[in-house]
Amino acid sequence: MNAKEKNMHVAIVTTEIVPYSKVGGLADVMGALPDELETLGCGVTIFTPLYASIDRGSFGIRRLSEPSKLTAVVGTKKMPFSLYTAKKPGTSIDVYFIESKHFYGRKGIYTVPETGEGFEDEAERTVFFNRAVIESIKALDLHPDVIHCNDFHSGLIPAYMSMDEGGDPHFQGTGTVFSVHNLAYQGIFDPSFLETAGLERDFFTPGGPFEYWGKVNVMKIALLFSGIISTVSKTYAKEITTTDEYGYGLEGVLRSRKKDLVGILNGIDPDAWDPAADELIPANFTPADQEGKETCRAGLHKAFGLKPSAKAPVIGMVSRLVDQKGFDILAEAIPDLMKLDVRFAILGTGQQKYHELYEELQERYKGKFGVRLEYNNELAHLIEAGSDYFLMPSRYEPCGLNQMYSLRYGTIPIVRATGGLKDTIKNLDKAGGKGNGFTFKEYSAKGLTRAVTKAVEYFGDSKRLRRVRERIMQEDHSWKRSAEEYRKLYKRAKGRVGMRLTTR
Ligand code: ADP
Ligand code: GLC
Repeated sequence: MNAKEKNMHVAIVTTEIVPYSKVGGLADVMGALPDELETLGCGVTIFTPLYASIDRGSFGIRRLSEPSKLTAVVGTKKMPFSLYTAKKPGTSIDVYFIESKHFYGRKGIYTVPETGEGFEDEAERTVFFNRAVIESIKALDLHPDVIHCNDFHSGLIPAYMSMDEGGDPHFQGTGTVFSVHNLAYQGIFDPSFLETAGLERDFFTPGGPFEYWGKVNVMKIALLFSGIISTVSKTYAKEITTTDEYGYGLEGVLRSRKKDLVGILNGIDPDAWDPAADELIPANFTPADQEGKETCRAGLHKAFGLKPSAKAPVIGMVSRLVDQKGFDILAEAIPDLMKLDVRFAILGTGQQKYHELYEELQERYKGKFGVRLEYNNELAHLIEAGSDYFLMPSRYEPCGLNQMYSLRYGTIPIVRATGGLKDTIKNLDKAGGKGNGFTFKEYSAKGLTRAVTKAVEYFGDSKRLRRVRERIMQEDHSWKRSAEEYRKLYKRAKGRVGMRLTTR
């Protein structure tokens, strides 16, 4: 690495980040990737909202005195905000927090916790965050080589940088990378969003950048205006350019940018998910000494009200209870699966229909089917540690992290072969010498049942199981390789932006 590369500076923008805020995998990724980038010699700065739930004291988050008062234009209003900062734990990375009582002085990150519904002012909140980050970068007089935006919540930044004639002078030489973590959440708003966001109506024409079936689609804008687009696995990068099923209506836009679209598989933080040192589980264990896993298994039975059995494998799940994750085909498969000698331990929150459905199933199959409808990190660790199998029957899965956490804990994944699941999990052979899980292709209750049945049969041979666990626990899914790929990507993205609105 030469000195110039060493000074590469990337500003990462995200609406969730461990250890401050988390809804799903995006937070884990944002919590781990920057540390690895720093190790590789990149300069990293992070921008994220200061949600009401973030405990400022315990993270040493302090208000910046200079600049003390800033504003972000939302529609016709100038919305005030302040900048707070802290060093990311264990690093020298500056995290800048956008503070606004109006937008963040409430419970919830994207949705109202009580109802699961999106916030009514989602349009204003989205615009505010994007504008506030731009204003902050300028006020701090930062000149990053690359701004790395993640998902639609930060998808307007690339457009704001490119909208003035010749682009915003502050950002001359700054390139943009936009990462798609989930294409299903696009940020689709009524045309009045154009005024809220300050986007020109002239470009609200069919086929134009600001128009999407009579509405405005922030994800589409991000895909057009970013220098480079990445997503979180190679297979998902391919899938989203194919059909509507994966592209969610943006497959055409993605195809038009195919040469700038890359897939980089997420990694995991091996320290946060380490069976040998995990303080959240009842007993630790290692590939060579798996005894502690039995203690965790017993704890899991108890926590989920399951009837203990050495013979019946425990199948765990930790997931947002949403359509993406395959809860419809699982519910359909349950009557057949309950004929097998198995236990289920499911942890999750999400759509109301699944809360009701899964509570009902728990009632019906008491002692075999345990459900906890809550967000609970400790239980998530217990499931990873105490389960025999981990089920992810996703309809689509950009990457998925839990299958990799499971491997660390010797918990064999059963997955639908899609997106990142396909890239990380390969079928086990009979002898247990090759592969690391069970996969199925067809998105159906039948496919799922077949894979689970195979896994249950496999459970009978305890010696083989021990060998398989020992091997998969040692697989390396850390960020090392992928962070290097990001570093190369930033190099390529330096000074590179997507569409410019100067050619009218
Ligand atoms: P996604 O981002 O689509 O939700 P991932 O597999 O990438 O899926 O990441 C999900 C992350 O959220 C994991 O770290 C998982 O442990 C965590 N998680 C999901 N639901 C819960 C829950 N109910 N309690 C605790 N952790 C959860
Ligand atoms: C999204 C995806 C998940 C991915 C995560 C982090 O939430 O659903 O598959 O692992 O983002 O990239």
